[in-house]
Amino acid sequence: MHLTLRQLKVFESVARHLNHTRAAEELFLTQPAVSMQVKQLEESLGVALFEQLGKRIHLTEAGREVLGYARTVTQQLDELEGILNHIKGLSGGRLRISVATTANYFIPTLLGTFSRRYPGVTVSLDVTNRETLLRQLAENTVDLVIMGQPPAELDAEADAFMENPLVIVAPPSHPLARKKKIPLARLQEETFLVREPGSGTRIAMERFFAERGMRLKTGMEVGSNEAIKQSVQAGLGLGLLSRATIEQELTLKRLVVLDVADFPIMRHWYLVHRRGKRLSAVAEAFRQFMLKETRGLIDAGAAPPVPSRKRQRKI
Ligand code: PGA
Repeated sequence: MHLTLRQLKVFESVARHLNHTRAAEELFLTQPAVSMQVKQLEESLGVALFEQLGKRIHLTEAGREVLGYARTVTQQLDELEGILNHIKGLSGGRLRISVATTANYFIPTLLGTFSRRYPGVTVSLDVTNRETLLRQLAENTVDLVIMGQPPAELDAEADAFMENPLVIVAPPSHPLARKKKIPLARLQEETFLVREPGSGTRIAMERFFAERGMRLKTGMEVGSNEAIKQSVQAGLGLGLLSRATIEQELTLKRLVVLDVADFPIMRHWYLVHRRGKRLSAVAEAFRQFMLKETRGLIDAGAAPPVPSRKRQRKI
């Protein structure tokens, strides 16, 4: 038996339409070319696949059998193509992720592990504040975003994957540095350094104090976590930062976390993408990787995955 995939494809189309002309249109072939392919298939199989009754053609019994197999073969080939695309995507694809500045302190380690697992993948990483992350999601210029609060203004899918406590930091020489259970109200006597407008950290800080009817004295507006840390060390005020950003300063005893009532502000990290976006094989692999690698780093029940914007937490 000598047949070609092309013959099977042409035959399937003619069998579906029971019309050579329509099959020819569908396959961008001439009608004689279609008839020729069917004839060659019949010759190589040694059976008639169609019979002419009046003006119409019908499948013969052998034709119906061949049609079943032709469809199976076509399906299997489509499946194979999908799998190969998946493999090709993972071995040569590009991952575009954007993370909040606060996530930049742990994401490189995770990306390192991911890149060793998928060495062919090129990662493009952008580190920026919440406002820019929201714009990138809206403009669909990134695959995935890591941020401190899922967007309420966009229809997005968000998976919580790790705790993100916000703490108040001071230089070790600060009078409050060794105090226990500092009442919240005491903070009103201090000056705070705040992040730039558009920062998620700043939004969370403002919301937290506004909900408690408090207004803080704010000093300098500082455009990055690094600059806040430097300014706090220099004695320019207190800072409110994600705990993830200050590991080194705590180890080196350059900063201390103040023991303030109601603190830390407990937030979570979210892996976010636009709802309905078709994630590439690489992006999906990264999503699965992140959720798996950070499993256990989230306190059960505190921040469930957020499948819809209706279920988003408000911190
Ligand atoms: P950001 O971080 O303060 O750099 O915008 C985002 C967030 O933690 O929500």
